[in-house]
Amino acid sequence: MYTAILLAAGKGLRLKNSTIPKQYLMVNRKPLYRYSLDTFIAHKLISRIILVVEEAYVAKVESDIRPLQKKKPIDVVVGGMTRQASSFEALKFIQKKHPSTSFVLIHDVARPLISLELIDQLTETVKKHYAVTLGLPVHSSVISSNQGELIDNYIPRQQLFLAQTPQAFHFPTIYEAHQTAIQQKITSATDDASLVKIMNKEVKIINGTRLNFKITHEDDLNLLKAILLP
Ligand code: CTP
Ligand code: MG
Repeated sequence: MYTAILLAAGKGLRLKNSTIPKQYLMVNRKPLYRYSLDTFIAHKLISRIILVVEEAYVAKVESDIRPLQKKKPIDVVVGGMTRQASSFEALKFIQKKHPSTSFVLIHDVARPLISLELIDQLTETVKKHYAVTLGLPVHSSVISSNQGELIDNYIPRQQLFLAQTPQAFHFPTIYEAHQTAIQQKITSATDDASLVKIMNKEVKIINGTRLNFKITHEDDLNLLKAILLP
């Protein structure tokens, strides 16, 4: 069956105007992390959810999600210093407590508008590929600039995609990829599929959507509110 790992242990430092990590900001009377949590709870193929949070928030999150436990088992796991470490903590928890897990979907709660349809496509595709990422084709011209003031180069965009989460994996594949990364002293991967790729294994790309954007800066939060608020 499928387990979802929801990463919510970051500090949200690039969201400058907030004194709390972005995943706990209230948007439409709901903390940001609840958007993706609710979607994964609603998806019929997801049998278990691992919610990864910073130690200081464990008690609060556990009490907030208690009413949801009736719908689906949710384990709260303490994250690490980096996204990669947080993801590995969840994988180690699964290896220890639920070692017969076949597939995992790893998602950043900072992408609140993940849809049931994208989860459908990922769960289907990961039956045929060891690793699957969402990728959004780049449609704008891509320029590079060393100093950030004048254009140095145009980069052909035909082969470019923006990686999104969730990313779906055979559990043993992603667990091994994380172990290998640590052995190779790789510690700051910004997604999980990159660790599979480093092992020279294939990662299948399926289309992401623009709505599945990540809240990183104030601008993204304003966009989310514009979409959600009446
Ligand atoms: N994340 C995590 N553990 C970390 C760092 C990040 O679980 N040590 C999670 C974040 O909560 C987020 C996702 O990974 O859902 C993607 O990370 P990012 O957008 O970079 O969030 P933050 O690291 O919180 O933000 P920033 O980099 O601006 O500090
Ligand atoms: Mg970060």
